[in-house]
Parts: sequence; structure tokens; C-alpha cells
Amino acid sequence: MLVSALLALALPLGTGPDKFIAETWSKGQKEVERIARPSTDKVPSAVWTRAQEAAAGIVREHFTSLRPQDALPGVATPAELATRAPARKVASAVWTRAQEEAAGIVREQFTSPRPQDALQGVAMPAEFTWCNKDGVNYCTMSRNQHLPQYCGSCWAHGAVSALADRIKIARKAQGVDINLSVQHILNCGGVGSCHGGSTAGVYHWLYRLSRATGSGISYESSNPYMACSSESDEGLCPAADWSCTPQNIARTCNTFSSMGGTCVAIAKYPNATISEYGTLSGAAAMKAEIFARGPISCGIDAEPIIDYYGGVSSLKGDEVNHIVSVVGWGEEQGTPYWIVRNSWGEYWGEMGYIRVAMGNNALHLEEDCAWAVPKAFTAPEGSPNFPCGEGGDDCETGKH
Ligand SMILES: *[C@@H]1O[C@H](CO)[C@@H](O)[C@H](O)[C@H]1NC(C)=O
Ligand SMILES: *[C@@H]1O[C@H](CO)[C@@H](O)[C@H](O)[C@H]1NC(C)=O
Repeated sequence: MLVSALLALALPLGTGPDKFIAETWSKGQKEVERIARPSTDKVPSAVWTRAQEAAAGIVREHFTSLRPQDALPGVATPAELATRAPARKVASAVWTRAQEEAAGIVREQFTSPRPQDALQGVAMPAEFTWCNKDGVNYCTMSRNQHLPQYCGSCWAHGAVSALADRIKIARKAQGVDINLSVQHILNCGGVGSCHGGSTAGVYHWLYRLSRATGSGISYESSNPYMACSSESDEGLCPAADWSCTPQNIARTCNTFSSMGGTCVAIAKYPNATISEYGTLSGAAAMKAEIFARGPISCGIDAEPIIDYYGGVSSLKGDEVNHIVSVVGWGEEQGTPYWIVRNSWGEYWGEMGYIRVAMGNNALHLEEDCAWAVPKAFTAPEGSPNFPCGEGGDDCETGKH
């Protein structure tokens, strides 16, 4: 790392630091050659044999704690993992291009130059993550799409998490994180359900909404995630309505029903808009986009990683059937990897994250990604909140 960083910063040949590096390098080379030269003399062994150890009464181990070599059976080698049968068949939760087209989804609309073009050929750092950029965390919360019951809404989660990170980046990580409503998308997006959807579709929907109304996606605190969509028969879903009514965009409940209370839509609610969005593929384009503008949402094969307990996964995979968000990259013993946030809760993998080998489309992660650029969002320091009464009624009738 250090050496490569030094070399990357190297001055024109022959000048100070460069000369110093060259001299040190050649000194080092000579030393290596000297050590590597085969000696004609036999070296007497300075290490006791097991027999000698036993004769001296040496007991070679004494412990009660679980050893890491036994305690981490999940960290299988890629070869071991490759031969392991998948734990469970995964139903694809990602729409195909044909499904996207049938739903009228436009996969990109932008005018600004894209980092993938503007930064072409520009060297990227070996390690970069928005979860720790110069000591600051710009990553927003890990989510669990499967609570209160199973729901295949990864496509909405990946898009929302990447966008929320970008809002946090725009806010320089100041203030309480803004959490966007995944349920708003499930109720109103028309680009997917608990049985799958399109992550580019989320941004297309939000882009249209932003342009047509000047308002965007509502916040979690006025529309919490319920893991339901109209067609879902799971858990509590059949008990309620999940259509795109005003109440299913932003709402509150004003008191106990026994006291005459009811739930009402909030006419004015905190929300976030986007100005442009797009799709991309390939490691170079992913790196440029992430580096310049923030996390992105990408397809992945979920089947081989259902039972993932840590480490860098370099499994090939078969197809994209799940969506995650990619927040950066790193390097382990010379192997570069992506840092990926899933939406299966923090109990899964590395605190809800997985590292995936880079450069080879492992798990099909480098195949289909989407990005969006935040525009306006309601925040104490940004676009002002439209204050409403506790019961939500004042803002509904506009008594301001
Ligand atoms: C958003 O979620 C994070 C993590 O749970 C939390 O710390 C933060 O307070 C939330 N923001 C709001 C406005 O509730
Ligand atoms: C969306 O947020 C903006 C800025 O805070 C606000 O002006 C607008 O009224 C909000 N939209 C709705 C529908 O409440």
C-alpha cells in the first residue's frame, strides 16, 4: 500500500524522493540476492524434533477456548463453497429487461457528464469506502427486507439505501440520518412488489415524481416499512390496503379509536427528490461512479450467499436474482473486493455486509447497477419542513 502510494506520487525521475526510492530498492535487491544465494555449508538444525520435545516433557498445547480454526467453519474456501449445494432455491426478485420494458421503465435520464466517462483512465485508490472516508461514515442504516414478514423487495431496498447514502454525503454526514420510505415505493412505485421489481425502475419512478410534482419519496417516519404489497398473502399483509392512496404515502394516527381517533394522510410531508439517474456495468464504471458520487445499487446472485459467514466471496454464480448496494472497495492480500451492503439484517454476513471479489463479475455483481443524483430533500439545514400538528390535520387543511 505504502510503497504503491509512494510510487503513485513519484516525482520525475532523478529528483529527490524518486532517487531515494531507487537507491533503497537497489540496496534491497542486493540484500535479497545475498540471502538467496545457495550456501555450500550445511546448516545445523536449531529446531528440536518432536522426539526431543517429548524427551524434554514439552506439552505442545493447553487451551479451553474454542479455537478460531474450528470456530469459523463458515469461512470456507471458494473451492469448498463451489461444491456445496445451495441451501435453498431463490425466487428471483429482479425484473428482466423485458419486464422493465413492459412496465415502461426508462433505464436512464441524465444530462451531467457521467463519472464513468469523465474519470476514464484515472487511477482509483486501492481502497475506498463511503462507510469510512477520511474517518467519516456516510453509510446509512442496514435494513431487513424480510420483517415483519418475508418480502422480495430487495430492488427497492438497494435503490433506497444507495440514495440515502448520497443524501448523507450531500449533508456532509451532519445531523440525524434521513431514512427514506421503502413502503412508499411498494405502495406507489408501480415498478415492483414483494414478488420482485426493478431497481432502475425505482429511480425512474422517483425522477418522474420529482419532475411532475416537485416532491419526492416520503420519509420512514411517515411511512414505515411493513414488508407488504397488494398481492402479498404473507403475515399481516392481507389485513390492510397497500394501494397508492394519500394515506399510503404519508400518514399518522391522531388518537385511540375508542376516543374517536382515526388515521389520516399528511398533506405535507418531508420528502426527497432526484435530478437524474442511470444504469451502468463493469468494474471501472462502478468505481468511477461510486468514487465521484456515492454508493450504487447492483444486481447479484443471492443463491450462493444465503449461507455466507464472512470473507471475500469469489463465487461465479448463475444469474442476477437479487439487489444490493455497493458502498466501496478494498484489497485483501492483493485481492481486490467490493464492499456490499445487503438488506437481510445485520445478523447476516459481516454485520449485514458481504465482500465480493472484484474484476471478474463474481456473483454477477458487476453486470447491472443503477445510480441516482439527489436534488432537494427536507432537512433542518436544507429545504424547509412544512410543519403540521400532531394529528396531521393542520397541514392537511393548510392552516398556516
Ligand atoms: C435513521 O436510521 C438511523 C439508524 O437506525 C437512526 O440512527 C436515525 O435516527 C434515523 N433517522 C431518523 C430521522 O429517524
Ligand atoms: C416535499 O419537500 C419540499 C421541501 O421540504 C416541500 O416544499 C414540499 O411541500 C414537500 N412535498 C409534499 C408533498 O409535502
